[in-house]
Amino acid sequence: MDKLYDKLSEAAVSVRSRMPVEPEIAVILGSGLGALTEELVNPIAIPYEEIPHFPVSTVSGHAGRLVFGTLHDKRVMMMEGRPHFYEGYTMRQIGFPVFLMKFLGVKSLLITNACGGINTDFSPGTLMILSDFINLVSDNPLIGVNDDRIGPRFPDMTEPYHRKLIDLAEEVADRLGVSYTKGIYAGFQGPYYETAAEIRSIGLMGADAVGMSTVPETIAANYTGIECFAVACITNMATGIQMVKHSHERVLETARRASVDLSRWISALIGAMPAQ
Ligand code: HPA
Repeated sequence: MDKLYDKLSEAAVSVRSRMPVEPEIAVILGSGLGALTEELVNPIAIPYEEIPHFPVSTVSGHAGRLVFGTLHDKRVMMMEGRPHFYEGYTMRQIGFPVFLMKFLGVKSLLITNACGGINTDFSPGTLMILSDFINLVSDNPLIGVNDDRIGPRFPDMTEPYHRKLIDLAEEVADRLGVSYTKGIYAGFQGPYYETAAEIRSIGLMGADAVGMSTVPETIAANYTGIECFAVACITNMATGIQMVKHSHERVLETARRASVDLSRWISALIGAMPAQ
């Protein structure tokens, strides 16, 4: 696997020398959903560009940070900012942070994202637990020579989102009074918003929502044996379902509004997860 193991080892040595404690839970924060890092107790942030081999954004100038700390006495690491395929990263690079989580001792990964709704029962602001995914990109982080020390050549993907984490998240949402739905997420390459014909065909495939992230990270997590859970914020209805043109600003604004409930939910879920 093109020296991936060596690169991960080097990155892990560098991060371990600075992180306060070994994280048990990792969280990837999607667009407009970054506020959760403010809840971390004794946070230590490491900019991505200071981590060897870590994918650093060449696009926005916002490289992102790994933030370590505790939340409800759980040892947590959060990714503020994530690489996307449409930025020109290889899928291997997109998988790198998740592979690194495994090297750092992470057992569970919680992913958030902003995406478009296809299921007409949804509306902007709906929170959707991912029950499964459809990968619309004919690439993924596992393509290439396999290194069995990181994961198996042919990983199982029967249950990409961990049943126990889904059940626990539902219990927590009910307790908090957070409303949510469940559905299938299709991962589109972007960066353009899909055409109406694409949305019709993606809907026929069985997807309830469509976005430009999450699928590669889910694949990477399952490959390494990290338990995965993901929740999507429907920031807009997909092309042809909503009759107005897309606006990134509106996406961010809806995500920010929904992030109040989403952050409460993820925080309480972390509190309810068994210590590892
Ligand atoms: N499509 C793809 N990705 C998105 C969308 C969408 O409609 N909204 C937010 N991310």
